[in-house]
Amino acid sequence: MSGDDPVNRLPTLSVENLSVVFPGGVTAVENMSLQVSEGEFVAIVGPSGCGKSTLLKVVSGLLPAATGTVHVHGPRQGRPRIGFMFQRDTLLPWATVASNISVGCELSGLPKEKYQERIESLLELVRLQGYENNYPAALSGGMRQRVSLARLLAYEPDIYLMDEPFGALDYQTKIVMGRELLRIWEAGRRSIVFVTHDIEEAVALADRVIVMSPRPGRIVAEHASTFERPRDPRTLRGDPRFGALVQQIWAELTPTD
Ligand SMILES: Nc1ncnc2c1ncn2[C@@H]1O[C@H](COP(=O)(O)OP(=O)(O)O)[C@@H](O)[C@H]1O
Ligand SMILES: [Mg+2]
Repeated sequence: MSGDDPVNRLPTLSVENLSVVFPGGVTAVENMSLQVSEGEFVAIVGPSGCGKSTLLKVVSGLLPAATGTVHVHGPRQGRPRIGFMFQRDTLLPWATVASNISVGCELSGLPKEKYQERIESLLELVRLQGYENNYPAALSGGMRQRVSLARLLAYEPDIYLMDEPFGALDYQTKIVMGRELLRIWEAGRRSIVFVTHDIEEAVALADRVIVMSPRPGRIVAEHASTFERPRDPRTLRGDPRFGALVQQIWAELTPTD
């Protein structure tokens, strides 16, 4: 069997009939099934508290499933690499930008003599050349998320789990970061699961948008977002088909009864 044969290629993420129950009996996720193919960009939207973060935590192994299964497959031998990015940056405040990114290099198993080269190319990729010796406190929120992204890229994950990574940024910075993420993703094409409560952001970035119900989170709809790539999230917002899809998802998220 050839690993390159698309028929035999395993999905990067496969979630089957997953339910998550917290101690005390709160069901956060109910019977979710979801597959993410290699190189696919999937966004998950849902109201606050519907279980989006819980889903990502179970996928990353931070939380156990009550029922159902989660499989992550990487192309390399051994354990798949799962990268996680949060809304709030989790940078080490006492370490420089370069040292923060080197954490990703270390986790990836890169030989130490190659750190410098990888850090330099990542700083260029996230457009932070010249900031390697700065501390996080001296950077804006958008720049800190660029460092977080560089650290994540340094680890070379098989799948990126992104939990509202730009949710704390102002509107304009969020759009710029979305464009940057697409540029980086288009160059490397790893699988991404991108959680957001921002419908426009989901439609602008992803290949597929999954809509969750209020808690307990279930999948209520799924849409292909087939806008031509490469995309510019700024101009895309002027496309009437974009507005129509956003409206449709908005209606699914706020059903009238
Ligand atoms: N550790 C926990 N113990 C009990 N309930 C929790 C815990 N973490 C989250 N929840 C509850 O599970 C639900 C889903 O939470 P979460 O996944 O964080 O939602 P989202 O990310 O979609 O806003 C919420 O109602 C939340 O209060
Ligand atoms: Mg959350």
